[in-house]
Amino acid sequence: MSLHNLLSADSLKQIDREVAKYPAEQSRSAVMSALRIAQVEKQFLTNDLIEAIAIYLHIAPMMAYEVATFYNMFNMKPVGKYKITVCTNLPCALSGGYTSADYLKKKLGIGFNETSADGKFTLKEGECMGACGYAPVMLVNNHSMCNHMTPEAIDKKLAELE
Ligand code: FES
Repeated sequence: MSLHNLLSADSLKQIDREVAKYPAEQSRSAVMSALRIAQVEKQFLTNDLIEAIAIYLHIAPMMAYEVATFYNMFNMKPVGKYKITVCTNLPCALSGGYTSADYLKKKLGIGFNETSADGKFTLKEGECMGACGYAPVMLVNNHSMCNHMTPEAIDKKLAELE
């Protein structure tokens, strides 16, 4: 299926802007941006969407699949309105990342890779987010970071999302 049938004109314009940053024969360099833009519009990436992006960028579908499935920022299935990704890599783990994750699990009533019954929250385990100095950290919808995740900081963040 054509990408024109799957995404809005605005998303296509954004993808074209990313593609234009690279030499014509290097359009594959825009694959992460294209996947990100598609996900912002569609919330998760379907096989059709990934294939259409590959065709649009003139790359093999497998190359786009590899990127989409390697990075945990990409959603390969529906997620809640707020996807909370808790970093559990070493510096965060040593600073209480798992304790914070347990607090979140209890508070939301879900485990990792689960979505709350009301469809509001999905909890994910994530890799280092390059913010080890603020450990433990979590990301909301891949963009908004919560530093030093004490129970109070988590409560504050969740209250903002309610
Ligand atoms: S280990 Fe968590 S941000 Fe680096």
